[in-house]
Amino acid sequence: MFNFFKKSQSQQSGVPKKRESLESLWRLTKILMENLEFEDVVYKTVNSLLNELGYLKSGYRIVVLSLVDEEAGGLRRIALSETEEARRATSVSTIPFERIVIPFSATQNLGIKVLMSGKPEVTTHWPDLLSPPLTAEAALTNQRSAGITTSMVYPVFARGKAIGTLIFSMVKKYQDVTEEEKDLLWGFTELIGLAVENSMLFTKLKNTSQQLTQANNKLQQLDQLKDDFVSVASHELRTPMTAIKSYAWMALNRADVDLSEKLKKYLVRVLMSTDRLINLVNDMLNISRIESGRIELLPEAVDLISLSKDIIDEVYYSKSIEKPIKFHLLEQSLPKVFADPNKLRQVFLNIVGNALKFSPPGGSIIIGFFTDGQSVETYIKDEGPGISKDDISRLFKKFGRLDNSYTATASSGGTGLGLFISKSLIDLMHGKIWAESEGVGKGATFKFSLPIATNELVEHADQYQIKPAGDIRELEPAAL
Ligand SMILES: Nc1ncnc2c1ncn2[C@@H]1O[C@H](COP(=O)(O)OP(=O)(O)O)[C@@H](O)[C@H]1O
Ligand SMILES: [Mg+2]
Repeated sequence: MFNFFKKSQSQQSGVPKKRESLESLWRLTKILMENLEFEDVVYKTVNSLLNELGYLKSGYRIVVLSLVDEEAGGLRRIALSETEEARRATSVSTIPFERIVIPFSATQNLGIKVLMSGKPEVTTHWPDLLSPPLTAEAALTNQRSAGITTSMVYPVFARGKAIGTLIFSMVKKYQDVTEEEKDLLWGFTELIGLAVENSMLFTKLKNTSQQLTQANNKLQQLDQLKDDFVSVASHELRTPMTAIKSYAWMALNRADVDLSEKLKKYLVRVLMSTDRLINLVNDMLNISRIESGRIELLPEAVDLISLSKDIIDEVYYSKSIEKPIKFHLLEQSLPKVFADPNKLRQVFLNIVGNALKFSPPGGSIIIGFFTDGQSVETYIKDEGPGISKDDISRLFKKFGRLDNSYTATASSGGTGLGLFISKSLIDLMHGKIWAESEGVGKGATFKFSLPIATNELVEHADQYQIKPAGDIRELEPAAL
């Protein structure tokens, strides 16, 4: 084992040789950078110098790339050139090439030495390179079989850190290695450092992005499965629940049997509970239709005042027995808005329904409008408990019930899905929806704005339609 590198060799170089070296490096760069895959880069690292640059002719026979393997605690053999000499060495080796790891503790090994010092070394004695793990005898057998005279070991750097070594083995003496060759080998090793690091990053990134794609596909499948489940389960639930509801109603209203007060109370509870369940199922069906795009939107010019009157009538007649409420519709002359009347009805019913649900008996609900010439804002103001600042942001989320539980009193027994559905519908109609409240105890105001139905919009209404993906289904009625 000896080190000639410090001695300066007799200079036989001339300008043409330097240029040749540069051209060779340039060609190698191109070869190495063609593909960023790690496997490909390391294969080219150990073969391109010999084959493509004709270094076989100048006596080079084997190139070996080793890289630091922190997990294995050593320098691991990674790639070996495909030459006759390399084949001969591996065929007699006591340890297969890819399992050779030189432990970091083997400080006499030239690979480890080069890694530590960052300086090249040269040897004519393969035990310097291979033991441990090979015995000196086994290492010599490999060397004799390959017929190698001299091996030079270079450090491979990436970002200033030695990450491995390159061993160049040849059938000539070290004295016959020219300065140009050494320059080129240095340049080559530097290039390899960059290429190896890039390819490691690239391959890691590629694997990560493949994993992400897989995870994403899996999630999409699960999401689809969930949608299908919700859709099927909801349908299957609704049929028996409708039966329960009608039988409970018949039992409660049968004139020919006297029911005890207790029994009546039980039946009323059955009816209320089935109503809540049917509402929940309907809302879930609506959401699955909206989310999977199985919904049709046919916008036209809609008169908000007459729609409000319809809604008030409907809510008033269905609910005024339970709770006396005063409705005030602040009529004014208004431009029509551009919206799908059925979907808008759904939104209105939910917001007015909420206002009613949260109003104290005898309270007032005001429906009013505001326009800036571009859009019309509709507001629905109640005298209920109001909403705290923190809660306002949660209102329009799925299951955004503020008390955060399903066991909320039956009197406010909604699903927590109404506002989410309302927002989805308003979004589809290019509008906005939001809530305001002075705070808890001070009532709440829900507002939504929709574009004014200009002639331009109405004439091109077909362009604003949303065609359903799959079979069309109207939305299920909103829970009140
Ligand atoms: N007018 C209102 N006043 C106070 N809180 C309201 C009002 N409207 C909605 N909320 C709150 O927002 C939640 C979500 O409303 P919504 O999505 O319609 O579901 P649900 O009516 O089924 O509870 C309600 O549970 C309630 O906590
Ligand atoms: Mg509601």
